[in-house]
Amino acid sequence: MSASVEALKAELERFGKENDAAKTARAERMLNITRDTGELLSVLARAMAARRILEIGTSNGYSTLWLAEAAKATGGKVTTVEASQFKIDLAAANFARSGLASLIDLIHDDAGRFLERARPGAFDLVFLDSERSEYPRWWPRLDAALRPGGLLVVDNASSHAAEIAPLVALVGGDPRYETCMVPAGNGEYLAVKSA
Ligand SMILES: C[S@@+](CC[C@H](N)C(=O)[O-])C[C@H]1O[C@@H](n2cnc3c(N)ncnc32)[C@H](O)[C@@H]1O
Repeated sequence: MSASVEALKAELERFGKENDAAKTARAERMLNITRDTGELLSVLARAMAARRILEIGTSNGYSTLWLAEAAKATGGKVTTVEASQFKIDLAAANFARSGLASLIDLIHDDAGRFLERARPGAFDLVFLDSERSEYPRWWPRLDAALRPGGLLVVDNASSHAAEIAPLVALVGGDPRYETCMVPAGNGEYLAVKSA
């Protein structure tokens, strides 16, 4: 663990809490994952030696930093997709400060559009933390982009269970996937694709 990245993550945790308590507009809130979710992502990425990591929903890059630290350990890279220019600017500044920017491809685009051009099997690990109503529409492309044996992690599985339910029904009903709920942070839905 790099001391400066750890200090930056701690700073972003404080900023996220203060900012999100003060702002009512969703577009201005950071909506970051919790620290224990970051720890879970870090362990999962390292355990499966994930080298090609995709994140949908960057915000200011807090969760990306957890994934990028793991990618540094596995010799991999993180591709992270964000639609908001405001959040892209915040994330780019944080990545530059972290010293991990060379391991991060920050894509300013709509995730649905990005997924349409993603290569089949391009990613070992996908972290989904974005516009929940879009997940069922994105699912066919997400599924295609995940390699056999790859892992999908979806945030807010318990905090917004009803909103995640349509995706859970699609993935859970697919015999190629083994799934579980992990009670970390806001609840993480894990689905591993059969090899
Ligand atoms: C919950 S936040 C992500 C938080 C981030 N993963 C973290 O923990 O630091 C969701 C993000 O998804 C972005 N978003 C919403 N709809 C999107 C879309 N269609 N394509 C790409 N990003 C989108 C929002 O702008 C927002 O920054």
